Amino acid sequence: MTMAYPIVFQYPCFVSTICLIMFLLSQFSTIEANNIEGFSVKLIRKMSSNAGTVQAPTHAYLGQHLMELSIGTPRKTIYAIADTGSDLIWVQCVPCDKCYKQLNPLFDPLKSSTYTNISCQSELCHRLDTGVCSPENRCNYTYGYGDNALTQGVLGQETVTFTSTTGQVVPLGGIIFGCGHNDTGNFNDHEMGIIGLGGGQVSLISQIGDSLGGKRFSQCLVPFHTDFNVPSRMSFGKGSEVTGEGVVSTPLVVKQDKTPYFVTLLGISVGNTYLAFNGGEGNVTKGNMFLDSGTPPIILPTELYERVFAEVKRQVPLKPITDDPTLGPQLCYRTLENLSGPMMTAHFEGADVALAPIQTFIPPKNGVFCLAFTNTSSDVGVYGNFAQSNYLIGFDLEAHVLSFKLNDCTKQ
Ligand SMILES: *[C@@H]1O[C@H](CO)[C@@H](O)[C@H](O)[C@H]1NC(C)=O
Ligand SMILES: *[C@@H]1O[C@H](CO)[C@@H](O)[C@H](O)[C@H]1NC(C)=O
Ligand SMILES: *[C@@H]1O[C@H](CO)[C@@H](O)[C@H](O)[C@H]1NC(C)=O
Ligand SMILES: *[C@@H]1O[C@H](CO)[C@@H](O)[C@H](O)[C@H]1NC(C)=O
Ligand SMILES: *[C@@H]1O[C@H](CO)[C@@H](O)[C@H](O)[C@H]1NC(C)=O
Ligand SMILES: *[C@@H]1O[C@H](CO)[C@@H](O)[C@H](O)[C@H]1NC(C)=O
Repeated sequence: MTMAYPIVFQYPCFVSTICLIMFLLSQFSTIEANNIEGFSVKLIRKMSSNAGTVQAPTHAYLGQHLMELSIGTPRKTIYAIADTGSDLIWVQCVPCDKCYKQLNPLFDPLKSSTYTNISCQSELCHRLDTGVCSPENRCNYTYGYGDNALTQGVLGQETVTFTSTTGQVVPLGGIIFGCGHNDTGNFNDHEMGIIGLGGGQVSLISQIGDSLGGKRFSQCLVPFHTDFNVPSRMSFGKGSEVTGEGVVSTPLVVKQDKTPYFVTLLGISVGNTYLAFNGGEGNVTKGNMFLDSGTPPIILPTELYERVFAEVKRQVPLKPITDDPTLGPQLCYRTLENLSGPMMTAHFEGADVALAPIQTFIPPKNGVFCLAFTNTSSDVGVYGNFAQSNYLIGFDLEAHVLSFKLNDCTKQ
């Protein structure tokens, strides 16, 4: 049977934005996966009930958050972009036909006793729409992102090892991941790949959820300029629930595309001025924003963006910078003090999330603060990682609930 896949791409994409495009590369024949299943022996084991919560340290670096994971046997530490806006887990691997420069050694699958290739007849290969057969019967993949970053390579399975809150070492086997052999994009040398944390089939969350007591996780992203050596922790499965005083929750909106975490933004307040999302109060489209830890700014449809921009400009008692072309059309201010306002509030359906200047302004250079918002012609916006910082955010993929709790993530 020949299958064709639609291009599902309806999200705004900017330079340094990691958001997913489905690449329609070729059509291919699917081969029934019946007796090949033995190939994908489930190595994943259930955790014992007193093992604590499984975690991974996450470090801020140049606008992204790098998750620290151990893969392979013997274990190799990787640092890869934590990306709730995509699904695939991939790292740059030996041999590299065309890789970007990275500081740490490349992962070498031949040196790991737990690495297995995925054959292109396997059902596992076709969990990714772009899995195709190589002449050697391997599962070649291509995965692209909104900023034109692209990874091409071979799908395999590997053991990922976590540590739990009680110090227990928790290896989870058979995790599908991409060994990138041809990777391009605006990556820096600290980034060894991307950890897809979206809601789709091949994401880390979907793959480990059943072993860890449920498809849920929480993140606490440290602010932009936090030292690399001050990580916060992502928690997975049982024990990752965000509870207690001050928690606010909003529904995760289920759409056909399972990858992004869609929520409904009713409006944004700048100080005491309420600005309704396009369409007016009580009449917004459900799922008009998605959370993306791989995108730094908040991205709003132009109409709302212009109103927010104008209102911030009206309320900040300083003169915007107009004589620095490197800042582009951003709204920036020169000040030696930290900006003390305005306070903003993201009004999600059922959850008001207060945003202090540290979450809404970034300092691109010393003494300069710029509003970390930008705009799109799409009617779906992106709630980026600056605004997510210093909140413990819980994603429950089964109850379809997103929870926020104000938190100092550097002290987590
Ligand atoms: C790497 O990917 C690019 C872009 O898809 C392609 O043009 C090029 O041929 C690939 N190179 C190798 C060595 O596979
Ligand atoms: C995976 O496939 C490649 C190419 O066919 C081969 O060189 C390698 O040995 C295979 N690895 C394993 C673990 O089977
Ligand atoms: C499969 O991937 C390998 C490694 O990236 C590449 O050399 C080869 O050309 C690819 N083959 C196909 C058919 O895409
Ligand atoms: C709500 O939005 C829809 C679609 O944009 C529009 O047709 C309708 O008139 C709006 N209703 C109100 C009460 O504003
Ligand atoms: C500005 O904020 C940063 C980060 O919170 C802090 O380290 C610094 O001391 C503050 N500077 C002033 C002048 O308040
Ligand atoms: C973004 O906003 C600016 C200023 O309002 C506007 O000129 C531009 O066309 C907008 N871009 C998009 C992609 O909507």
